[in-house]
Amino acid sequence: MGNAGLQSILDWAKAERGFDAVGYCPSVMAMRVASRMSATGASGYGEYLNMVRTSPAELDLLVEALTLKVSSFFRDPIVFAYLHDSVLPALLAEKAAKGERGVRVWSAGCAHGEEPYSVAILLHELAQREHKAPEDAIFATDIDEKALARAKEALYTGESLASVPYGLVTTCFNREGELFRVLPAVARRVRFSVHDMLDRRTASPSDSVFGTFDLILCRNVLIYFQPDSQDIIAQKLYRSLAAGGYLLLGQTEILPEAWQGRFRRVTDCCRLYRKGK
Ligand SMILES: C[S@@+](CC[C@H](N)C(=O)[O-])C[C@H]1O[C@@H](n2cnc3c(N)ncnc32)[C@H](O)[C@@H]1O
Repeated sequence: MGNAGLQSILDWAKAERGFDAVGYCPSVMAMRVASRMSATGASGYGEYLNMVRTSPAELDLLVEALTLKVSSFFRDPIVFAYLHDSVLPALLAEKAAKGERGVRVWSAGCAHGEEPYSVAILLHELAQREHKAPEDAIFATDIDEKALARAKEALYTGESLASVPYGLVTTCFNREGELFRVLPAVARRVRFSVHDMLDRRTASPSDSVFGTFDLILCRNVLIYFQPDSQDIIAQKLYRSLAAGGYLLLGQTEILPEAWQGRFRRVTDCCRLYRKGK
């Protein structure tokens, strides 16, 4: 069945769940399908195609695997330390000097919410330190509605909190048996919505109303796409970012070449870029 077999499986995922593999790296798609085949014991594409045709639960697991939802709180802790110690205080000070409300953040490709909640925790902590009410707006989007439904529950395993500083675990989460729920005061600061980064018709999250962002996190998303799709995403990020705004990519990601001149790399410790003013 070969590549045609793989294509039939991807076609089924598109027809039934709307997941379009066009634009993603073919090798990544093949690896993700292979991981489900090995988990189910399917001996080939044909057998696996039958499984996804007859089992909606397996189709869900396939789409989950294809959209790669690996994440955790404070993933790459050095990045969050840099946000906490440098970027967010600078942005808050700039806003205050201009008499503007708090910072606007967009977490694009937010998986189950670990990333936007991590930023919300930092902003919560910074606001408490200043004895101020937080005024930030944090938008979080993903292509996968089911992932967003889970994100809204704000309930996580201890494992996904492994990199959270202990003091923040005790102040920003409520323990529920073996699990941890983000404190409602922190969780309600994040607004989740579906947004496809490859959709050229929309520039930014539908509920973010007009206005650009001071900080966009688009981490570990670009890496899965082919150059043409990366270009669509880079254009969207550039347009949605305020002049002087920050863009954070994953630790192994780089901007497509055509966009590199429009941003300045801010630090060697992470893939943080700043748009020209
Ligand atoms: C590996 S996760 C990254 C999670 C988080 N940003 C992090 O770095 O920990 C990649 C996320 O991108 C999402 N994604 C994949 N294709 C997308 C698209 N076309 N538009 C929006 N999100 C997409 C996936 O559903 C997944 O949740």
